Amino acid sequence: MKLRTLKDLKNISGKTVFLTADFNISLENGHIGNDTRIVETLPTINYLKKRGATIIIASHLGRPRGYDAAFSLKPVAHKLRELTKTDVKLIDNFWEKKALDVISREKQKNIILLENIRFFEGEEKNDRNFSKHLASMADFFVNDAFGTSHRVHSSIVGITEFLPSYAGLLMEMEIHMLSKAISSPKRPLLLIIGGAKTPEKISVIERLLNIADTVALGGAIANTFLAAWGFGTGRSLVDYEMVEMARVVFWKTTRKHCALLLPTDVVISDMERKAKPKVVPYTHVPHNVAIYDIGPKTQSHYRELIKEAGTIIWNGPMGLYEDPRFRKGTDTLLESLASSSAFTIIGGGDTLTSISKAKYLEKIGHVSSGGSAMLAYLEKGTLPGIEVLLSNGENT
Ligand code: ADP
Ligand code: 3PG
Ligand code: MG
Repeated sequence: MKLRTLKDLKNISGKTVFLTADFNISLENGHIGNDTRIVETLPTINYLKKRGATIIIASHLGRPRGYDAAFSLKPVAHKLRELTKTDVKLIDNFWEKKALDVISREKQKNIILLENIRFFEGEEKNDRNFSKHLASMADFFVNDAFGTSHRVHSSIVGITEFLPSYAGLLMEMEIHMLSKAISSPKRPLLLIIGGAKTPEKISVIERLLNIADTVALGGAIANTFLAAWGFGTGRSLVDYEMVEMARVVFWKTTRKHCALLLPTDVVISDMERKAKPKVVPYTHVPHNVAIYDIGPKTQSHYRELIKEAGTIIWNGPMGLYEDPRFRKGTDTLLESLASSSAFTIIGGGDTLTSISKAKYLEKIGHVSSGGSAMLAYLEKGTLPGIEVLLSNGENT
């Protein structure tokens, strides 16, 4: 099976391309914290523009329930305007039929950006009529949203039923780099997982126990594992529905040649984060406080593991990095990764946002635009959004 790429997309001058991108970026007071995900989509946008195509871009931002101004793509439209030096028209009620006329008028002079695609419920349901509506805006579909391609959604999967569909340049690059990393990784292979999206990450961890030599945990996901082990985690962010699953992962680890590591010391404060942060062993978390970062002993331990590793994959901040008092674990980790001689891969929306010093990024082997998607790809070698871009060699 061959991936259909932009090279297969011929004669696009005057044609319209529906481009799905992953502009799911963390906003800080309405401003974009880190624009990597937009910057990485520019090669595809420029490629299409240069060949005379008009472009309609779709992306989600966060997980809104219906229309919610806090999740508007306005800041993204602004950034895109700045980066592409082209007018960008944000289309509000894109799911309505009447939006189609506005789009076909405006697309001649502007890049069209549809408002947060998740404002319409059909997106996450992969609703066939909604997919058809999106497809009716364009002649071709290009998917550059590697970071969202683990989702079976309309703008990722459903739309491909109605349009000739291709992988964008970012998608192609991600597939190339990540498949290289897992085909014969230099060992030991160290996987460092943090962040808060426990449900999607936990099942991937379970399966990555087969390929990793060590899995080291931090962030809120580590809280869930500490709770599963039976330790008190006080008021920490714990995904109680995932505790049973974490126990299964512990059990499976006993049957694999893989070490699963939890933080041995943690940084705590009260719920309002008013109390001065304090370091305690993982066995002594009082009931009225929460864990917000990994402690210094854990940081040194993970640094040693990084020194010895041949390949390192990191996704998910080690703590509540948005508060500068709880970003030491995440900062130290990045610093250690940047000075490591191993092949390093990092990825994730928040992981990228959490990076304080861009100079460290230059030292990383591959910076992926995907978080959970990157992990799912490493585990399965494909994603639902990639499967629909494969063809068996016939003309498309
Ligand atoms: P990524 O986008 O890199 O895959 P996630 O979305 O899974 O990462 O998680 C990032 C979020 O996890 C951040 O908002 C961060 O504040 C939160 N987080 C990490 N550790 C903790 C913790 N101990 N308590 C509360 N939130 C945490
Ligand atoms: C991500 O940041 O991991 C992607 O944009 C996917 O977001 P989601 O987990 O809300 O689908
Ligand atoms: Mg995130």
